[in-house]
Amino acid sequence: MKILQIKTSILSQYSTSNQLSNEFVDQYMTKHSAAKLEILDFETTAIPHLDSKLLSALSTDQSERSNEQVKQVAFADSLIEQLQDSDVIVLGLPMYNFNVPSMLSSYFDHVARAGVTFNYTATGPVGLLKNKKVYVMATRGGIHRDLPSDTQTGYLTQIFGFLGITDVEFIYAEGLNMDDSIKEQGLKQARAAITTTVAG
Ligand SMILES: Cc1cc2nc3c(=O)[nH]c(=O)nc-3n(C[C@H](O)[C@H](O)[C@H](O)COP(=O)(O)O)c2cc1C
Repeated sequence: MKILQIKTSILSQYSTSNQLSNEFVDQYMTKHSAAKLEILDFETTAIPHLDSKLLSALSTDQSERSNEQVKQVAFADSLIEQLQDSDVIVLGLPMYNFNVPSMLSSYFDHVARAGVTFNYTATGPVGLLKNKKVYVMATRGGIHRDLPSDTQTGYLTQIFGFLGITDVEFIYAEGLNMDDSIKEQGLKQARAAITTTVAG
């Protein structure tokens, strides 16, 4: 079994989603001792925005790509292969300005590729990534769960589902920038959910 841990926080060692996803991975690997871990950290592997140059690289025939375009496509290919190879994805998900971290959006721009990770058919899109499970550690300064301000849960469910990954489970740590007691309560609930989820 291969675990892909994706860290998307901009807060380095102060990141709560990094901390909680580390705790999740530690507990998960204790239970599944043969599992192999790979970490993709956007702090060290920056994901560029989808712009006209990247789109052009992806749509240029392989034999006609410039050196720069070869590099851009090779990077996107490596992200796709890493995702294809994983069985379990543990995603740290901070909320920044009511959205997912912008590099996470760019990540999906890199891995959503027609004919490779999804197909359009006469009956609609079909995701090509199968038999994967995603655990999301969602960290928020405020409280958004089940409210219209939670723009993240629906988006991630949609994009993973589009790629064929329909088994997506969320663990929330909320109220982290409210007062200390609310923060402690949010962390306590998240940690309890991690333990229960890993125990299955
Ligand atoms: C740039 C920035 C924007 C933020 N925007 C929001 C927001 O829109 N809503 C919210 O509830 N919390 C917001 N927060 C608080 C974060 O969600 C909270 O600090 C969370 O712990 C971030 O996860 P991390 O520690 O893993 O980076 C923001 C924090 C930062 C640094």
